Amino acid sequence: MRVVLMLLLGLVIGVLGTAQVMNVLAARNPMPKAVMVTMGYHMGELSHALKARQCDAAKSQHHLERMQSTATDIVPVFGIDEKMFTDKAGELQTRLQQAVQAAPADCAALAAAIKPIGDTCKSCHQQYR
Ligand code: HEC
Repeated sequence: MRVVLMLLLGLVIGVLGTAQVMNVLAARNPMPKAVMVTMGYHMGELSHALKARQCDAAKSQHHLERMQSTATDIVPVFGIDEKMFTDKAGELQTRLQQAVQAAPADCAALAAAIKPIGDTCKSCHQQYR
């Protein structure tokens, strides 16, 4: 009986320890989250501009360019080797590039430019988040 209890205890400690190690590892690599939070910030600024109906062309361009360059960090930083994931990240880059090239000058153009970007964020999140 005592041996069984000790074995069980060992198992529980092992599980708890593993969970803790995973947490520490996640905390040690803040980059995946940092990349996403950065993109979320710029996407948020753009949707605030849309809501306020104040779509300054230079500001929109700045946020789009920041997202475009940040998105190039997704694949190396997440280290997820699945084709679906890397395809989604590639799709995001293509769409960001198109938006940067479109250089939206007003709110209507900005709304049209970020719609496909938001769709890509959402579709990857549905799968991987
Ligand atoms: C290729 C897949 C992929 C794409 C594309 C993607 N994300 Fe993410 N995102 C993730 C994953 C996976 C997580 C969960 C990360 C975690 O919890 O460590 C996440 C989490 C987030 C978070 C939450 C971060 C937190 O605080 O934990 C935000 C905000 C976010 N993404 C914003 C965006 C925005 C904005 C876009 C589009 C411009 C985008 N993401 C595109 C995969 C993606």
